[in-house]
Formats: sequence, C-alpha cells, structure tokens
Amino acid sequence: MAAGNPYTVKWGIMATGGIAETFCKDLLCDPKVRDAHDVRHEIVAVASSSSKKRAEEFLKTIDGAFDAKTYGSYPELVADPNIDIVYVATPHSHHFQNAMLALEAGKHVLCEKAFTVTAAQTRKLVETAKAKNLFLMEAVWTRYFPLSIQIRKRITSGEIGTVYRTIGDLSFNSNAAEGKGLSFADSHRMINVDLAGGAILDLGVYPLTWVFQTLYHLQPEQDKEAPTVVAASNKYTTGADENTAIICQFPRHNSLGVATTTLRAHSDPENDAVPVIRIQGSEGEIQVFFPAFRPLKYKVVKKNGESQLVDCPIPGDPARNGWGHGMFWEADECARCLRDGKKESATLPWTESIVIMETMEAALKQGGIEYPELITTDVYDPKSPLNTGNQ
Ligand SMILES: NC(=O)c1ccc[n+]([C@@H]2O[C@H](COP(=O)([O-])OP(=O)(O)OC[C@H]3O[C@@H](n4cnc5c(N)ncnc54)[C@H](OP(=O)(O)O)[C@@H]3O)[C@@H](O)[C@H]2O)c1
Repeated sequence: MAAGNPYTVKWGIMATGGIAETFCKDLLCDPKVRDAHDVRHEIVAVASSSSKKRAEEFLKTIDGAFDAKTYGSYPELVADPNIDIVYVATPHSHHFQNAMLALEAGKHVLCEKAFTVTAAQTRKLVETAKAKNLFLMEAVWTRYFPLSIQIRKRITSGEIGTVYRTIGDLSFNSNAAEGKGLSFADSHRMINVDLAGGAILDLGVYPLTWVFQTLYHLQPEQDKEAPTVVAASNKYTTGADENTAIICQFPRHNSLGVATTTLRAHSDPENDAVPVIRIQGSEGEIQVFFPAFRPLKYKVVKKNGESQLVDCPIPGDPARNGWGHGMFWEADECARCLRDGKKESATLPWTESIVIMETMEAALKQGGIEYPELITTDVYDPKSPLNTGNQ
C-alpha cells in the first residue's frame, strides 16, 4: 500500500434484512465525510439464504456496489476468495452457526448483536478465531460512536468522580392496538423463540452495553471483575421475555448497574423528556438521551449544579442524499484492526463479549426463558439448516 492511500476492506454481506441494508448504506458513505482518511470499504459480495435474485434486489435497495457478486446461499458467500470480512446480519438464532461457517472458511467476522444465544457459543467463536488467527468482533456499534468515546474519556478523567451506578433502559411500546397482545406476529424474530426472540437479547444488550462500557470496561485490567447478576422477566405467550430487569453487581468495585428493557412501554414517551442512561458518580452524572443504541446527545450534570449539553450529530454524506446512520464507525474499527493485524477490538475485547453473554445467559435463566436445541447447541454443523437456509 502506497503511503497515504487508505486501507481498503472487502466486505461480504451475509443476509439481506433490515440491518444489513442500514449497515451497507453506511459502508457506501464516503469515509472522508466523517473525517476518516486512513480506511475505506468495498462491498464485494452479498448473499441471501433464499435466492440469488433476493441478493440482486438488495443491491438495488442499497443503491450501490452494483459490481458485487450475488449468491443465493451463505456457504457460497464464505467460499468467495475476494472477501476479507463477513458481516453476519442474520437473526441472533443463526449467529453462532453462521459466524462459524465464515471463520471455518478462513474469513474474518463482524457479527451482529446479540453475539450468540449462549455464552458457550461465544466462547467457541472466540476459540475458533484464535485458533485460525482471524479477526472477530461483536457488532455493538454504539461503543464506536464519538459520543461513547467522549463519555468514557470523561469518566476516566474523573469528571464525575467515582462512578457508583449506571442505570440504562431500552424499551419500546409494542402493545397491539387491541387486546393484551404485542403488535408483532408470533413468528416475528422479536418474540419467536425459534429465532431467539425476546427483549433481553434484542434490546437489553444496549442498556447492558452502557453498564459494561462504564462499569466493567473501565476497570483496571489487573482488577477486572465480572458482575454477579440478579434478574427477573415476564414472559410473553410465545415463551420469549417481554419485560426484563437485570441488576449487575460489581462488589469489589462498589458499583451497581441496572439494565431494563420491555416491549410494553417506551423508554422516553415524550421524546427527550428523560435521560435513558444515567452514569452516576460522586461528583455528578452523565445523562444520555434516547435511543440507547444511537444516542445523539448527552448532558454532564455536576454536583455543584453546573451542566453542559453536548450534541454529537452523525455526519451525513451529501453524495448519498445525506445518509449516515453511525454504523460506519464500527466498520472503520474493523478496517483498522485488519490493517494493523489485530484479531480483536480493544474497545470490545473477546473477554468482555463473553462476560456480557454470560450476563445475558444468567438473566435468561433466572427469567425462565428457554430456546430450542437447534439454536443453543455449541456444536458447529456446516449442514445446519441455519447455514443452508432451510430454517
Ligand atoms: N446493530 C443494530 O442496531 C441492529 C438493529 C437491528 C437488528 N440488529 C441485529 O441484526 C440481526 C438481524 O436483524 P434485522 O432487523 O436485520 O432482521 P430482519 O430484517 O428480519 O433480517 C434478517 C435477515 O436474516 C436472514 N435470515 C436467514 N434465515 C432467516 C430466518 N429463518 N428467519 C428470518 N430471517 C432469516 C434473512 O435474509 P436472507 O435470507 O435474504 O439472507 C433476513 O432478511 C439481529 O441479530 C438483530 O439483533 C442489529
């Protein structure tokens, strides 16, 4: 690579759903618009589990990467020698088998949250990436936002003193217009246990992200303490959790995290009336506003009453009709790690992904939530219907 040329990463996209579309539109934004001059992204292949035609339609939807190869199956995608890294954007039920498929084919992997359904699956992914000397990252995009980076720096610099507590919520009012049901069909991935549905794995991971990036990630390396977890869930008729509260206690660090999520009420029904994350220290607190996964502003409130509101807008690319969702920052992180030969991101190391998955697993267990064997096994099967598209 000539000096000054940006490092290019070639992406293979696994799945053609909602988040794959959003992520790909971000990959197509000019990195210079967000002041990233050292890396760039190319979408070189897209696969749908249903048909090659669906993958072709996807390129029209994202309005770009028209030269990308299109495949009608995931095994064909991972065999493409032109791909550096596979973005796994299937339902979480599929993540373990799909990410293993890519790793076994020698591809680096960025896998959507929730990383897996069980902690053993996350551990197996990490072992495999390590053994094969491949990069692997859980796609918790919020951690790579300038807003998150600023907040972690403010905490480290002692601006709000010793942090004793982080409270976070991500909830949506998904009540059906009539009756006591939810607005999703029972088959929808949000509440279908065959697709690892439920509030914890889909939404709870975000308030937990705030608990972890403020109370766990910033603990000194030599004194890392995983939380003890107390949780309760209310179950929906499908067996998925619809309303969950998780307490994470870090006794040695004298801190507590509380993460809540529900499909029955909204985090902030009045829009900006309440902070959805509060990071509370001895000298003040940092308040983050809705939504926990894509916050655009935060407020620092000091003990002496001083306060500062900080806007952190997401830059839009004028050449892409102003598009910019904020997923490009995690993509840039992948690019820089690949360029520098790193196998994991320091912002979300493997050990931390494992502890987060252990926390969610403990919450699911205490809530009595059970998922089928097909999606909880940690035995990789390339012929699993989750890989071959028959499920
Ligand atoms: N980072 C974020 O902000 C964010 C936001 C939303 C979702 N997510 C995560 O991204 C993942 C996908 O969510 P999504 O909202 O994109 O879901 P979605 O719109 O339902 O898309 C999922 C895609 O997965 C593929 N798929 C393969 N087997 C499937 C099956 N049996 N049932 C349904 N889909 C199947 C399908 O694409 P093909 O068959 O065409 O390949 C489908 O379009 C989830 O793990 C979710 O938690 C992350």
